[in-house]
Amino acid sequence: MNHLLEVQDLHAWYGTSHILHGINMTIDPHETIGLLGRNGMGKSTLIRSILGHVPKRSGQIQVDGQSAMAMAPYQIARLGLSYVPEGRGIFPNLTVKENLIMSAKTGRKGQHDWTFERVMSTFPRLSERLNNLGEQLSGGEQQMLSIGRALMTHPDLLILDEATEGLAPLIVAEIWKVIQEIRADGIATLIVDRDWRKLLQNTDKALVIQKGKVVLSGPSKDILDHPELTKYLGV
Ligand SMILES: Nc1ncnc2c1ncn2[C@@H]1O[C@H](COP(=O)(O)OP(=O)(O)OP(=O)(O)O)[C@@H](O)[C@H]1O
Ligand SMILES: [Mg+2]
Repeated sequence: MNHLLEVQDLHAWYGTSHILHGINMTIDPHETIGLLGRNGMGKSTLIRSILGHVPKRSGQIQVDGQSAMAMAPYQIARLGLSYVPEGRGIFPNLTVKENLIMSAKTGRKGQHDWTFERVMSTFPRLSERLNNLGEQLSGGEQQMLSIGRALMTHPDLLILDEATEGLAPLIVAEIWKVIQEIRADGIATLIVDRDWRKLLQNTDKALVIQKGKVVLSGPSKDILDHPELTKYLGV
């Protein structure tokens, strides 16, 4: 069986700055993975490298057994990866409904269970604002819309980079509930979040990176108890 995602000896650069220094990781179908590390350690760069958004990389990235190294971002997305970026990424000038409907597509394995109706019942707040433009939504509503859109693409791997950042506690709690629903649903997910306890409590496995290298990896419950965790997270 192929891994859903396999990253081997991945290096990445922005110009001459060498950011990732040989990352190895795998994600299997249905796994929920937490990605942790202090600010600027390379979490978003790792995600953006997997998705083909970082121009200079070396190493291997395979998605379901296919090499993604030479692919453009849109081709990688077609392999079943859906990304909710830091800072949301919705269409500000389209309505909530339009944002959702335009992203809908059947999954690579025929999944079609995340219907518009299911997104409406998962995010009741959005159902009340269907005709509002994306730009008229609160930050939390935009984040929900962004996750709803990703779900309607029926990804094999959903990537959430700081989906709860800067949001009110009530909204953060709602987003964690949705993350739990997605996990129970069996969609593989890679999650970055500053709330490391919550992240480790809600994932199967985790990676901690420091200066572009993996310094801890394993079952999240073991990482939670690891004596060096707080040192690596600077908390
Ligand atoms: N577009 C860019 N051009 C040049 N350097 C960048 C760029 N984006 C990030 N960097 C640098 O790469 C390093 C890793 O950044 P990255 O955004 O991956 O960290 P992060 O772990 O996601 O941090 P944060 O918790 O702040 O989101 C940092 O030193 C950052 O300054
Ligand atoms: Mg980041």
